[in-house]
Amino acid sequence: MTVPTIRGIIRRNLLIIFLIALFVGGGGFYVLLEHAAMQNAGQQAELMLSSALAVRGYTTQHILPNIARLHDAVFHEETVPAFAAQTVFRSVSAGDAAYTYREAALNPTSNADRAGPFEVDLIRQFRNDAGLKEIRGTLDQGGQRLFYLARPIQIKDEKCIVCHDTPQRAPKLMVAKYGPNNGFGWHMGEIVGVQLLTVPVTQQFRSTLELESLLIGGLTLIFALAYFGLTASLEATVATPLTSLAHAADQASRSTSSAPELPTSGAREIRTLAESIQRLRVSLAKALAQIGGKHD
Ligand code: HEC
Repeated sequence: MTVPTIRGIIRRNLLIIFLIALFVGGGGFYVLLEHAAMQNAGQQAELMLSSALAVRGYTTQHILPNIARLHDAVFHEETVPAFAAQTVFRSVSAGDAAYTYREAALNPTSNADRAGPFEVDLIRQFRNDAGLKEIRGTLDQGGQRLFYLARPIQIKDEKCIVCHDTPQRAPKLMVAKYGPNNGFGWHMGEIVGVQLLTVPVTQQFRSTLELESLLIGGLTLIFALAYFGLTASLEATVATPLTSLAHAADQASRSTSSAPELPTSGAREIRTLAESIQRLRVSLAKALAQIGGKHD
């Protein structure tokens, strides 16, 4: 195995430090940014979901009991909590298709609310784990990256059962409109569906990538400067003088006749070393001369 030179050691160690710092710094920064973006989207989604819930609650508490007394000839969709929440959300998110709010059910009253494969999967997860109150994550849809927040829809209020128990019990006009086959047979405590809210995070994701590449670029630049600066100065003050010192010392140890050049530049320690070697050589020459003189 060849013993590495001081140049090689300095360069290799600097590169290793650079790579580790780049990996740890870049990776850590990415995780932080991603976390902040998700947190941000999560807060936005929570706020929107709370307003959807508020509309639901308002409809159940204030609209439903009053309109029910009217005995009109038409079914008022306005009294339906799910209708109210989804309608209000549509106007809140108007213009941006990435903001969506759905109340999807396995056995929905309105066919438009039938759960798709992703929603079915969410409902199943909520049904399997009663302690699970929320699922959040990201999904890619139509070239957009969306953050989603899902919560189970559980029947907790007797008022819901009136319309979702049997077609006989439900308002006649509602059955006339939606038919007797869908959205019935729900019972108290059952998780019938999922509230699924999405907000776009494509932009945040892009900003994260932009900031990340800026950081990587900046770090690389700083490290490149540090690398060249450090290697050049170490080269001039340590590596080159030390190499010639090593060479001179090597020559001096082999013969007394030649007088190799000892470096006079470099760091203080190297100069001291060069001077010491020089003195040693002089003393050695003197000693040899004395021994030679006695022999004569
Ligand atoms: C006045 C009758 C009525 C009441 C009371 C009612 N619903 Fe509904 N519900 C409906 C109708 C009608 C729809 C379909 C609305 C639409 O066109 O989107 C619906 C839709 C839903 C949906 C969306 C999936 C689907 O079936 O289309 C969910 C979830 C839901 N209701 C849950 C509830 C819960 C929970 C309550 C109690 C807070 C409740 N409902 C109270 C009539 C009612």
